[in-house]
Amino acid sequence: MTSLSPKKTIAVIVGTRPEAIKLAPVIRSLQASKTLQPLTISTSQHAEMTAQIFRSFGITPDLDLRVMRPRQSLWDLTALLSTSLGEMFSGNRIDAVVVQGDTTSAFVGGLCAFYHKIPVAHVEAGLRSHDRYSPFPEELNRVMLSRLASWHFAPTEFSASLLRAENIPDDSIFVSGNTVVDALQWMISHSTTSPLPAGVPENPQKLILVTCHRRENIGAPMRSVALAIKHLSDMHPEIHFLFPLHPNPSVRENVKPVLADQPGISLCEPLNHDEFLSALQQSRFVLSDSGGVQEEATALGKPVLVLRRETERPEGVTAGTLRLIGTDVQDIIRETENLLTNPAAYEAMTNGSNVFGDGHAAEHITRILEEKLTPSARARASEPRIAAFDLMH
Ligand code: UD1
Ligand code: UDP
Repeated sequence: MTSLSPKKTIAVIVGTRPEAIKLAPVIRSLQASKTLQPLTISTSQHAEMTAQIFRSFGITPDLDLRVMRPRQSLWDLTALLSTSLGEMFSGNRIDAVVVQGDTTSAFVGGLCAFYHKIPVAHVEAGLRSHDRYSPFPEELNRVMLSRLASWHFAPTEFSASLLRAENIPDDSIFVSGNTVVDALQWMISHSTTSPLPAGVPENPQKLILVTCHRRENIGAPMRSVALAIKHLSDMHPEIHFLFPLHPNPSVRENVKPVLADQPGISLCEPLNHDEFLSALQQSRFVLSDSGGVQEEATALGKPVLVLRRETERPEGVTAGTLRLIGTDVQDIIRETENLLTNPAAYEAMTNGSNVFGDGHAAEHITRILEEKLTPSARARASEPRIAAFDLMH
């Protein structure tokens, strides 16, 4: 595909569910730019889940690389992405590449763009756990992306400071906020209240939402999570657990044998994003190892017991919404009991915070890219502006 448009083409690489959610606002913002245009590349590392998100946001990918395979290894995925993204960059006129976060699609997207000497913009830059195996392989994916990228869009001042500490040039770092908040606000304002899956009570006092998918939790840790939920459900028949299962077959193999067909526990397919946000809003609190869910819950003031020992989102811990509890059975039972029975502990976690952004991150990112890629836009931006007040009089 060769573009004749005078606009600069920004390839936006989307692989997985969270990338689709967090890049949808960027794609929509680039569509509205006078000087830039997005070329949306779906790698389909996650096929159905990204398709659903694109539909919700009214986005049609320009290219689909169809790399998803059942039970594929990280090296097979990397090889397939490398060949298909490399060929795609060779066959298209692309002026810059946007990648988000820390997935294999994002890392290989950045690497192939570098091989083509195309500048890379990294959205959600500067998150660090400082443990190379947790989250795995994400921690090193994002470290390597920070070496590859030309422009780093840090969600918070703290993530920007971590980039500076790694000697990333200060003038290439921009604190934009996290686009997850833009997506959250857009989705809530564009969807009617989505019903919860059949059998799930609508009383928020009764609902606990659960997600668990991290690679390092697969195996014994995930079985511990399932056993703890089974025990809590037996002890609290008044509480209902809603657990949308990530499609990774290894997740299902760990969770289903313990939790399928249990009263008080609903296992379901991944929820559409609007349905998930509705469940989040209607829940009492959340048990999760997800990154995006930590950010959304912080924005909404919904407590999360984080099924990990570390987080690259410490801003949410400081804000009071997130509590790191790990995956030990007894720890999960004790911390969940505490939130169920101790109103003061619960209330202390319900103050929402805009620490992850104000909902304008995508506009900010587009404006910086316009300034970097189209000098005329930079010149226009530096011209004295006529205030709206002057125009009206
Ligand atoms: C991936 C990302 C992770 C991100 C997560 C969001 C990598 C290495 N991991 O993890 O950073 O937090 O997405 O959800 O990039 N599968 C299906 N159907 C699907 C999705 C996956 O069958 O819809 C299977 C794949 O074929 C594969 C396995 O699940 O066998 C794992 O998928 P993969 O995309 O490699 O990693 P995730 O654990 O989904
Ligand atoms: N999500 C969703 N449906 C679900 C579970 C999660 O739409 O059934 C959304 C959630 O709102 C968040 C994102 O998926 O925006 C998080 O994705 P995931 O947990 O897969 O990845 P992570 O954020 O951990 O990388």
